[in-house]
Amino acid sequence: MTNTPENPETPTTAGSRMRTVRFESFGGPSVLTVADVAVPEPGPGQITVDVEYAGVNFAEVMFRRGQFPVDLPHFPGLEAVGTVRAVGEGVTGVEAGERVAALALGGGGNAEVVAVGAEHTVRLDGDLAGLDGALAAGALCNVTTALGVLTSAGHLAKGETVVVLAAAGGVGTAAAQLARSLGARTVIGVTSSPAKAEYARGFGYDSVVSYDEIGREVAERTGGAGADLVLDSVGGAFRLSVTGLLAAFGRHVVFGNAAAEDVAFEGNHPWYTNSSLAGYNLGGVAGRAPQLLRAHLEQALTEVARGAVRVEVTVLPLTDVARAHELLETRASTGKYVLDVRA
Ligand SMILES: NC(=O)c1ccc[n+]([C@@H]2O[C@H](COP(=O)([O-])OP(=O)(O)OC[C@H]3O[C@@H](n4cnc5c(N)ncnc54)[C@H](OP(=O)(O)O)[C@@H]3O)[C@@H](O)[C@H]2O)c1
Repeated sequence: MTNTPENPETPTTAGSRMRTVRFESFGGPSVLTVADVAVPEPGPGQITVDVEYAGVNFAEVMFRRGQFPVDLPHFPGLEAVGTVRAVGEGVTGVEAGERVAALALGGGGNAEVVAVGAEHTVRLDGDLAGLDGALAAGALCNVTTALGVLTSAGHLAKGETVVVLAAAGGVGTAAAQLARSLGARTVIGVTSSPAKAEYARGFGYDSVVSYDEIGREVAERTGGAGADLVLDSVGGAFRLSVTGLLAAFGRHVVFGNAAAEDVAFEGNHPWYTNSSLAGYNLGGVAGRAPQLLRAHLEQALTEVARGAVRVEVTVLPLTDVARAHELLETRASTGKYVLDVRA
C-alpha cells in the first residue's frame, strides 16, 4: 500500500516522520500549516525524494482558495528538487541517491519527502549536473509551461509579435526569454504596476506596459496589424478584450485564471474574429502527451542550466509558505518563490 501524507498512520520502512505543508480547509494563506506526518513510501511507478527545494506556484494559491476541487486535507507543492530516497515497483532509469528534479502533479512537494511519478522526474546529471537546486525547482513548472504555451499551444513562428500578460511573474519572465530565443520579433509584456514593469524589462521584453496601455502599444508596434500570439493566464474581463489585440489569424492562448473570474465566448467567436482560442494545461499534457511533457521538462531545465533562460528565485524557509502565497495572490510578487525545505 502506498503511504502518503493523506495516510499518515501507515507504517513506513524508514519509520520516520517529516514536516509537510498542509491545509485542512479552503481559505486565505493562514489555512496553511506545517504539519508532522509519516514519511511516504513510493507506490508502483513512483519514487520518493528527500526534498531540498520546492517551488510555489499560483496554481497552489488556487487550490488553497478552493478554486479547483482538491481533497482535504491537501498537501500542496507541485515541484521538488532533491535526492532519490527510495524507488517503487516497476521504476527503471533512476536510483536511490541520485539528484533529481520532479514534478509532483499530485501535490505534496512542499515537504521534506515527497512521492512522485518517476515518469515526470529528470535526473540532474550530465549537462544538468551543475544546475542549482533552487533554480531547478523554480524552472520545473514555469519554464516548462512557458515552453508549452509558446510552442504546442501557441505555434509561435519566427518574426511574430507576442504579448505576455502577467509579464513579471514566474511564467511571464520565462516566456519573454523563450519567445525571443524561438524567433519572435517583438515581445511585449503587460503588468499591473510601474515597479513590476521595470522588473520585467530585465527579461528581454521590447516594452512592458499596463493593461490599460496594451491596445495602443500593440497598435503602435505592429503598425496596426495586431499581435500574432497573446499568452493569457489572467482571465477576467480583460480576457474578452484580447481578441482586439490580435492580428488576423492570431492565437489567444488561455492557460490560467488569476483573476478568479470566468468569462464566456460564443461558439462563433473564432469565426467572427479570424482568431484561434487555444489552451494549455500541464496536468492535461502529463495525462495525454507524457512524452511531450518529459521533453519539455528536460528542455526547460537545460535552457536554465546553460544560462539561456534566467530564472530569478526568492528562497524562503518552508515555514514561510503562507508569505509566498500572500505575495502571489496580492500581485506583490515578481519572479519565482522557492522554499528551502531544510530551513
Ligand atoms: N495551465 C497550466 O498548466 C499552468 C501552469 C503554470 C502556471 N499557470 C498559470 O500561469 C500563471 C502564472 O503562474 P505563476 O506561478 O508564474 O504566477 P505569477 O505570474 O508569478 O503570479 C500571478 C500573476 O497573475 C497576475 N494577476 C492578474 N490578475 C490577478 C489577480 N486578480 N490576482 C492575482 N494575480 C493576478 C499578477 O501579475 P500582474 O499584477 O502583473 O497582472 C500576478 O503576479 C498563473 O495564472 C497560473 O495559474 C498555468
